[in-house]
Amino acid sequence: MAKQLQQFEYSVYDDITELDDADAWLLNEARDVTQHAYAPYSHFQVGAIARLVNGEIIAGSNQENASFPVGLCAERVALAAAASVYPEVAIETIAISYHNLNGDSSQPISPCGICRQSLAEVEMRQQEPIRLIMGGLSGKVIIVEKANDLLPLAFNGSLLSI
Ligand code: THU
Repeated sequence: MAKQLQQFEYSVYDDITELDDADAWLLNEARDVTQHAYAPYSHFQVGAIARLVNGEIIAGSNQENASFPVGLCAERVALAAAASVYPEVAIETIAISYHNLNGDSSQPISPCGICRQSLAEVEMRQQEPIRLIMGGLSGKVIIVEKANDLLPLAFNGSLLSI
């Protein structure tokens, strides 16, 4: 038996003013696109903005449904949109923000488990890491250099015999 330790490093900024211009712009876009969310049930509006390696920008926002499990998170909407418009172009960075209409929006949020699995698939497909910039409408910002860092021991398709 062997014990393994997995750890990862991430950056925490006091606020958006500490980011470089390109990252600050992306996070501001994510903040803006929270307004496009359809979140009549949770009142928790999430925005995700992907910057592709060719410089293109793709937006996503959460899209809920009266049948709750049908709803889509902003991150997966952005991933699907990017793959649909530019299937051959890698995603370099995704900024994620939210507006909690019922409360505070000043803490960073990180992707849910399903979105982490979706991000892992895209990273494997494109063979390039996806940076994540996570921040609310104000307050601290977290940057993770590889989305996969958020899903240790992830399941992937390499063992599927199909
Ligand atoms: N949501 C996202 O869109 N992204 C996240 O990272 C966390 C949660 C959505 C799902 C649901 O529409 C609402 O936020 C409340 O969970």
